[in-house]
Amino acid sequence: MDTVSKEDFELVRKVYNKNDHIITADRYISYYNSNAAEGVIFLEISGDLNHIDRELLDVFNKNILAAFENLCLNKEIGKTQREILFLLGEVTEARSEETGNHVKRVSEYSRILAEKYGLTESEIMLITMAAPIHDIGKIAISDSILKKPGKLTPEEFEIIKTHTTIGYNILKTSNRDLLKTATIIAYEHHEKYNGKGYPRGLKGEEIHIYGRIVAVADVFDALGSPRVYKNPG
Ligand SMILES: [Fe+2]
Ligand SMILES: [Fe+2]
Repeated sequence: MDTVSKEDFELVRKVYNKNDHIITADRYISYYNSNAAEGVIFLEISGDLNHIDRELLDVFNKNILAAFENLCLNKEIGKTQREILFLLGEVTEARSEETGNHVKRVSEYSRILAEKYGLTESEIMLITMAAPIHDIGKIAISDSILKKPGKLTPEEFEIIKTHTTIGYNILKTSNRDLLKTATIIAYEHHEKYNGKGYPRGLKGEEIHIYGRIVAVADVFDALGSPRVYKNPG
């Protein structure tokens, strides 16, 4: 790999320290600083730079900067979405007195299962991000039922079951892939492979793979965690 000569390094340092640009006969070095990043663009050109070349390089420079900013913004949006979904998940987690970090663990187990199953990169990302809000429908279930210690009556259990359809109804209007994934998960994470789950009693592969994966992740985590209404071991 070529290394930068001492002279070039000095030029880059000068441009960086002065937040400026230097154009020589065969070099174009320009400092940039935006909300997203700070750095120096260095271009070595064969042949002399005429006036038009310099203007073109300026346009080129601005395009690189815009592309770079977009990249950083997209990353930022992705990170923000992820955080919002975790926070939303934690709100329901806190209300239903799930053990701490349940939603984070369910998300992580879902990611591992999705990877092992062979889902695509983008599907793995969608399921990992949407899994934390699988119980979002619980926001509409009253505390007296959600936090009731001991066994629920059959009527109360019927009410608890509605958190799946409530979650579905909250999320279903969105056309965004992420929220469409969350809709499936909210609706199907209590379905069972043998058809004895709820709310629709779907069987086997009638249950979407996202629903099957999060169901396994959710139960796996619940098995090892104490809750209000049960105490394993
Ligand atoms: Fe649930
Ligand atoms: Fe859960």
